[in-house]
Amino acid sequence: MKALGLAMLASAMLVACDDPPATAAVADAALTQGATLYAAQCASCHGANGEGQPNWRERKADGRLPAPPHDASGHTWHHPMEMLFQMTRDGIVPPLAPEGYQSDMPAFGKTLSDDEIRAVLAYIEHQWPDEVKQMRAERFKPQASGR
Ligand code: HEC
Repeated sequence: MKALGLAMLASAMLVACDDPPATAAVADAALTQGATLYAAQCASCHGANGEGQPNWRERKADGRLPAPPHDASGHTWHHPMEMLFQMTRDGIVPPLAPEGYQSDMPAFGKTLSDDEIRAVLAYIEHQWPDEVKQMRAERFKPQASGR
C-alpha cells in the first residue's frame, strides 16, 4: 500500500514537473545560450568554472581589481539580479561605482543584447548551490508595499 502511495506520488510529481513544457524548454534554451556566451565572453577573466582570477581580493600593480569569481566563493551572488545586469551591460560605472573608478570589467552593452546578458546571468545563477539561491530569494524578495 505504502509503496503504491509513493509510486503515485512520484508520478504525480513527474506530471507536475512536466506541466509547462514550453516554459521549461525556453529556460533550457536560455541556459544553453548563456553557457555558450559565458565561455566566449566571460570565461577568459572570470574562469571557465567561474573561479575568478588568482588573488582576486588584492588590487594589481595598476590599482585595479582582478576579476572576482562568479561561483559561490565570490560576491556576485550578494547582488540583486538587476544590479548584475547593469554592471554587465554598462561596466562598473556610477551610480554603482564612484565617479572615475578604473575597472577592467568591460561594458557588454554593445556586444550583447539585453536578452543575451540575461541568458549569461541566468547561466551564472544556475550554477549556484541551492542554499545560495535560497539566501538570495530571502534577501531580494520583493518588499511588501504600503509599509
Ligand atoms: C577583460 C576581463 C573581463 C571579462 C572578459 C569579463 N569581466 Fe566581469 N569583471 C572583470 C573585473 C576585473 C571585475 C571586477 C571589477 C571591479 O570591481 O573593479 C569584474 C566584475 C564583474 C561583475 C561584478 C561582480 C561583483 O560581485 O561585483 C559582474 C556581474 C561581471 N563582472 C560579469 C561579467 C560577465 C557576465 C561577463 C561576460 C559577459 C564578464 N564579466 C566578462 C573582468 C572581466
